[in-house]
Amino acid sequence: QEDVFKKLVSHCKEYGFVFPSSEIYDGLAAVYDYGQMGVELKNNIKKYWWDSMVLLHENIVGIDSAIFMHPTIWKASGHVDAFNDPLIDNKDSKKRYRADVLIEDQLAKMDEKIEKEVEKAAKRFGESFDEALFRQTNPRVQEHVAKREELHSRFAKAMNDNNLEELRQIILDYEIVCPISGTKNWTDVRQFNLMFSTEMGSTSDGAMKVYLRPETAQGIFVNYLNVQKTGRMRIPFGIAQIGKAFRNEIVARQFIFRMREFEQMEMQFFVRPGQELEWFKTWKEIRLKWHKALGLGDHKYRFHDHDKLAHYANAATDIEFEMPFGFKEVEGIHSRTNFDLGSHEKYSGKKLQYFDPELNESYTPYVIETSIGVDRMFLSIMAAAYCEEKLENGESRVVLKLPAPLAPVKLAVLPLVKKDGLPEKAREIIDTLKFDFKCQYDEKDSIGKRYRRQDAIGTPFCVTVDHDSLQDNMVTIRHRDTMEQQRVPIDQLAQIIGEQVSL
Ligand code: GAP
Repeated sequence: QEDVFKKLVSHCKEYGFVFPSSEIYDGLAAVYDYGQMGVELKNNIKKYWWDSMVLLHENIVGIDSAIFMHPTIWKASGHVDAFNDPLIDNKDSKKRYRADVLIEDQLAKMDEKIEKEVEKAAKRFGESFDEALFRQTNPRVQEHVAKREELHSRFAKAMNDNNLEELRQIILDYEIVCPISGTKNWTDVRQFNLMFSTEMGSTSDGAMKVYLRPETAQGIFVNYLNVQKTGRMRIPFGIAQIGKAFRNEIVARQFIFRMREFEQMEMQFFVRPGQELEWFKTWKEIRLKWHKALGLGDHKYRFHDHDKLAHYANAATDIEFEMPFGFKEVEGIHSRTNFDLGSHEKYSGKKLQYFDPELNESYTPYVIETSIGVDRMFLSIMAAAYCEEKLENGESRVVLKLPAPLAPVKLAVLPLVKKDGLPEKAREIIDTLKFDFKCQYDEKDSIGKRYRRQDAIGTPFCVTVDHDSLQDNMVTIRHRDTMEQQRVPIDQLAQIIGEQVSL
């Protein structure tokens, strides 16, 4: 799995999906650039989300708020005081780590050990893995499981109580070592705010400290009344937004899974107080269905309901996707109560209430939020699509089995040879289709090599123009996943392709 992930990362670079940022200057940690293929896939993901929210729901509208916002917004939202990670430094390597991640890694190591012991026990007693785990007959297994349980409960309690001293004590007690220096020489644990800040205005007239937004949601909350009034929106209604967010993540790993500059697609759904948990359930179902509709495999998704809730929530769940490094959060769905609007009312002194004509009363609406990272969605799709296949003729191919509506290029038009009027015929076909589908023309190398190149970027259709095409106006269309080929009239191409690639 780890190996596949490495291959995926280099595939992303080799075929123009994702490049490390500032690469000629040796890169900038946890920042990435999207290349010529990546930007198309990313735009298609955003359109898939945007249309599902704003096009298909009469009561959801979009906005695009600024990244810079009044600094008091982040005080009101709780980010100035509570958007922290617990950090610890190793005195020898001078490297900084997230204390919670060090402990999580330790738990993962213990899980691995348990798994190995269970496998051994299963082999010895001729049981299945699950039977062996269930019975835990082996004293070594029992010992490991008990140790793991103890660590887990201490860790959960320390996180819940925000007990930094206890986090440090756990790291010492379990003899967790620095991955770089290999020593146990740790500093105290400190809170570290994840927001980036900068200054607005010149210093002579008093510069104001402003933040790069760590979520797009607050731009929606502070515009709630503007949209509600000007759009004559009636509760329940939603506001959707796609935009950049910034977090000074300390653990920067797993490629585009955790970035310092990333993009979110967020929707805040305003509801009547008391109805939020019903709507929370509804949005959970809608969002899971949306993910599954891409056809990446229903078994790759699961909910992870939160026990520990953020300061603003009364219910929360993650939609997790099976990445090459395990099930990981792709989307968060939160019942945010009236925390944000209520807090903005307090800090701004402005009323953010809604007059409900049915109830004949005013209230501060409750909010259900759906929040998904574009980059994580991108990674999940690439991970599910990446395939190495052995072909019947003994050759192999790398193919990206991307959902056709999201594929960066929808069809490649390939003249069999570079002469005899075939390139001109191929260009003619592109000229009729390019308004509807992203096309690519390719005449270089053998047809087999050209197919391989298109497979590697996930192009669902290759259309080959041969000498007969000049006579009968027919072409060969090759399907990416099955590699099946069909002879079809040129004037039917738009319909055949359109059926597969439209959302
Ligand atoms: N407004 C709520 C909010 O921001 P979150 O769970 O912190 O909630 C929502 O973030 C989503 O944003 C996550 O599920 C994830 O997909 C994405 N995300 C968060 N931090 C990220 C990061 N550092 N890099 C990439 N994506 C991130």
